[in-house]
Amino acid sequence: MTETKLLNQKIKTMGLLEGKRGVIFGALDKQSIAWKVAELCVKEGAKITLTNAPVAMRFGHIEDLAKQLDTIVIPADATNDEDLDNLFEKSMEYLDGKLDFVLHSIGMSINVRKKKAYTDLRYDWMMKSFDVSAISFHRVMQSLWKKDAMNDWGSILALTYMAAQRTFPNYSEMAEAKALLESFARSFGYHFGTAKKVRVNTVSQSPTITTAGSGVKGFSDFFNYADKMSPLGNAPAEACAEYCVTLFSDYTRYVTMQNLYHDGGFSSMGMNPAVLEG
Ligand code: NAI
Repeated sequence: MTETKLLNQKIKTMGLLEGKRGVIFGALDKQSIAWKVAELCVKEGAKITLTNAPVAMRFGHIEDLAKQLDTIVIPADATNDEDLDNLFEKSMEYLDGKLDFVLHSIGMSINVRKKKAYTDLRYDWMMKSFDVSAISFHRVMQSLWKKDAMNDWGSILALTYMAAQRTFPNYSEMAEAKALLESFARSFGYHFGTAKKVRVNTVSQSPTITTAGSGVKGFSDFFNYADKMSPLGNAPAEACAEYCVTLFSDYTRYVTMQNLYHDGGFSSMGMNPAVLEG
């Protein structure tokens, strides 16, 4: 039994999200971080709707998750403003009220997928990466804002990676996409905080074995390196879900405009002898 499983056994659900309503983007399959977040939100008492890009509905398993959690999937391409407006309208209708939390768990780069070198990127693909992986977060928040879809003291989160601050060569242009994403969290966090007491944060997660994660060149070697470098080891997706739930709960109401590392300590390390020991 892994330590993670032991850890999860010890944790009892506490009804932290009792009475809250949320929308979860990005559950594709069982490995998706959003999948685990959705499961835990419901365990903690929330009512949610699920969403993903229409194309993801064909090759993913999100309908199975919806069945399991007794909810609906409302397809939305996060780069399409009409889709997003429709998503939030339908979600408020289905959930019978405004939203308390939203998770943005979306990332995609054709340049990374096609293994283009950083010194030979295609700019039309780069624009697409920025639109899907970062500008979509602004679109989500702008749609929520215009529809007045968030309850006061709500919480909006996006998942990010430390390549926004430090260089990880194989992460390529996704580093810039994440830097943009984190900046949108701060800038929109000001507006949402001032007007509605709604907080906006990003969670900077450890490397995690998922469809998006495994698309990065040399991922498994890097995963092992980060695991050794981090005093606590890489944070698994289940633990990321636990952290997200606390950030949706009322226990973190004054945390906003932050990029929050959830990485087993990796971001504070300089050198760990365990890495040299092989
Ligand atoms: P995943 O592949 O399960 O999730 C990515 C999701 O983005 C998929 O559900 C996909 O359908 C969705 N998506 C892509 N284009 C879309 C569009 N146009 N509209 C709506 N949805 C769209 O992989 P994972 O790892 O769970 O990724 C979730 C988030 O976590 C991403 O932001 C990723 O960058 C971030 N993250 C992942 C890490 C990892 O190592 N896996 C580490 C740190 C952050």
